[in-house]
Amino acid sequence: MDRSQAKQCAKELLKQMTVEEKIAQMVQVSYADVTREEALQWAKRGAGSFLHVLGDNAREIQKAAGQSRLGIPVIFGIDAIHGHGLNDHATIFPSQLASACGWDPESVRRMGEVTAREVATDGLHWTFSPVLCLGRDTRWGRVDETFGEDPYLAGELGAAIVRGYQGDDLADDEHILACAKHYLGYGEATGGRDSYDTEVTERKIREVFLPPFRKAVEAGCATIMTAYGSIDGVPLTASRRLMHDILRDELGFDGFVVTDWDNMNNLRNRQMVSTDLSDAAVKTANAGNDMIMVSLEFYEAMLQAVQEGKADMASIDEAVTHILTIKYEMGLFEKPEKTGKPGCFGCEEHLDAALDTSRKSVTMLKNEGMLPLGDGIRRVAVIGANADDVHAQYGDWTYFTHPRPDPEHTPVRPYVTLWEGIRAICERRGIEAVYEKGCSVLPDDGDDLEAAVRAASSADVIVYAVGDVIAQFGETHDRADLNLSGRQYELFRRLKETGKPVCTVLIASKPLCLNETAEQADAVLCGFNGGMFGGQALAEAIFGELNPSGRLPISFPRHSGQLPVYYSQLPGWHGGKYCDLPDSPLYAFGEGMGFSAFTYSGLTVDDDLLLTVDVTNTGRTAGKETIQVYFRDDVSSLVTPVRRLIAFTQADLMPGETRRVSIQLNKESFALIDQNCETAVEPGTFTVYAGHSSKEEDLLSTSIVL
Ligand code: GLC
Repeated sequence: MDRSQAKQCAKELLKQMTVEEKIAQMVQVSYADVTREEALQWAKRGAGSFLHVLGDNAREIQKAAGQSRLGIPVIFGIDAIHGHGLNDHATIFPSQLASACGWDPESVRRMGEVTAREVATDGLHWTFSPVLCLGRDTRWGRVDETFGEDPYLAGELGAAIVRGYQGDDLADDEHILACAKHYLGYGEATGGRDSYDTEVTERKIREVFLPPFRKAVEAGCATIMTAYGSIDGVPLTASRRLMHDILRDELGFDGFVVTDWDNMNNLRNRQMVSTDLSDAAVKTANAGNDMIMVSLEFYEAMLQAVQEGKADMASIDEAVTHILTIKYEMGLFEKPEKTGKPGCFGCEEHLDAALDTSRKSVTMLKNEGMLPLGDGIRRVAVIGANADDVHAQYGDWTYFTHPRPDPEHTPVRPYVTLWEGIRAICERRGIEAVYEKGCSVLPDDGDDLEAAVRAASSADVIVYAVGDVIAQFGETHDRADLNLSGRQYELFRRLKETGKPVCTVLIASKPLCLNETAEQADAVLCGFNGGMFGGQALAEAIFGELNPSGRLPISFPRHSGQLPVYYSQLPGWHGGKYCDLPDSPLYAFGEGMGFSAFTYSGLTVDDDLLLTVDVTNTGRTAGKETIQVYFRDDVSSLVTPVRRLIAFTQADLMPGETRRVSIQLNKESFALIDQNCETAVEPGTFTVYAGHSSKEEDLLSTSIVL
C-alpha cells in the first residue's frame, strides 16, 4: 500500500472514531512507567503506541489493543540507536559519532539494516533514530549520539541510516520506521546545556540545522521527533512555524511527529508557558505534534479542552490521520507483529557488519614512528580503566543504561575490549602482554598508579586508554570541564617518566581535552564508543593488522573555554584566537592518518562544476583516503563560513597508485540563506578546496565564478 492509499484508509477509519478514541490514538505509553494492568487498560482504551516494551509483554499489549472497539493495532517504538542495544543479545555497533569517523554512508546504511532486522525480530516496529542534531558544543552530554559537527556529513549519514532502517517498503518484515530527531537545533543550546534555550535565528536554522532533516525527509523518513528545548524563547513543542509550516509545507514531510519525553508537561512544569494541562495539551496538538510521548495526562486534558470548546478538532483529526496513515502503510492492520528474521541475533553477517564498522571508525591522530608495533617488541603494557571496560566502550543506550541504569547488568558476549584485543594479538605473536588499570576514570580511592608504573617499566611499549564513563555523559549530563577526570593526566605523566613509547587511546563518548596525553604521546588513536568490536579494531591498528582510515567528524578543543571550535567558523574575530590558546583546535574536522600517506595534485573544476583531482598513495601500504571537498563564498551579502563541506568520496589506493577522482558538484551547494531567509547562490567568485582534512594546509584550492 502506498502513502496515498494509506491516507484514504486512514480517513475512512477516522470517520468511525469517537473523540475519546481519536485522543487515545495520540497517546504513547511508556511500558516501564506504568503497571502491567495500567498498560493493558491503555491498550483497551485505544492508546496508539507504547515504547520500551519487548517480547511477550509487547504481544500481550497488542492482543489487548485488538480487544478495543476498533481494534487499531499499537505501534511499538524503541531506542535502537547504534544497534538494538536494549536487547542483551543484539549486535552493538559503534555510536553514531564513532560510525561517522568512517565517512561511509553504505556502512551506516548497513548498520541501520542490521539493527532494523533485530528490532523487527523482537516484534517491534520503530526506532527513535537517527539523531540529526549537530555536535558543535562538546560540553553537551549527547554529542555521542550525533554524526558530528557538520550539516552535510550528518545529512548524508542520516539519510543513509534512514534507508537502512526502512528499506523500500514500510511493510517489509525486516525493516522498521525511522525517526529523525530531535527537531531541531537541540545540540546548539546556550552553554551546551541539555534541553535549554537555543539562541539562533530562523536564518541560521535554515543554514545549519535544517539541512540534515531535509535529507532525512527526502529519504522518506516516516517519523520526526520534536526536541525538548526552545528557540529564542519559543518551545519547539509549541512552534507551529517549525513543526508544521517549515517541516510539512516546505520540506514536504508527510509522516507523523512524536514529541520527546513528556514535552507536553514540560510546557507547564519547566518552560512555564502553559497555565494548565488543557492549555499545554492544546498548544502541543495545535503546533503539529501528532503523538504525545508519555504525557498520559494529555488524554483527560484534551478531552476537557474539547468539552470546553478550547480544542481545535481539526488538529486532532490531522494528527490521528498522520498516525493511522503510517500504520496502514506499514501493514500494521494486516500484521500487527513483525517477525523479522528469527535466528539473526549474533549471526555472522551481523557480527561482521559490526566489526567492519568498528574498523572503519578507528581514527589515528598522531604517530611518530611508534606504530605499527613491530616484531621487536617483547612485552606490551596496557594501562587504563577504559582499556578493559565494556560499559565505557559501549557508551549510551544499551542494556547497561536503558530503560533504567543497570551497571551491574552482566555483559553478554561477544565483545572485545582493547586489552582483550591486544592480548589476543600478543598471544598469536608470542609477545608478552600485561594489564593494569592504574586509575579509574572518576576519582577513586582504589587507584594504584604504582602498579601501573611497575607494569609499564617492565614493558617495551605502553598503550594507555583514557576517556569518560557513562556517569559523565548522556541526557542531563553536560560537562563544563572537558579535561580528563580523576588521575588520568597524573598517570600519563608517571608512564611518560618511564621513558617508554606511549600510545594514547581515547575511548570516550566525545572529544575530551587530551592535552599532554596527546601532545607528549608517541601515538594517538581515537575510538570513541566503538561498539562490541571497538577494542579489537583498535588493537588491530596498533599492530598494523588494520590500516586506520577514520577521519574526525568533530573537532577536538584544547580547552573547554575554546568552544565552539567547529571548523566552519565565520571570519572577523579580531586576533582570531584567545590570547591564552593557539588559534586551532587540537585536532580538526576531517583529520586522520594511517600507515599510508596521500598527496593531492591537479585540482580543477570545469564550467559544469565537475571537480577533478589526482590523489596519490605515497606510502608503502594500501590505504583508504577520504577526499573532502569544501568551498568558501569569497564575497557574500552576509558573513559566511571560511569553509563548508559540500562533497566527499573515498578511494582505496595501492602503494604508489595515483587515482584521478571526479566529483560532480552542483550549483545549489554554493547557496547561502540570505537575510530574507531565501536560498540564494550569489553571483561572484568562490574558492573550492579538495584534500585530506578541513585544515588549510591539507587542501588544494581553485577559484570558480558563479
Ligand atoms: C529520551 C530522549 C530521546 C529518546 C526518548 C525515548 O528522553 O531524549 O532521544 O528517543 O526519550 O526514550
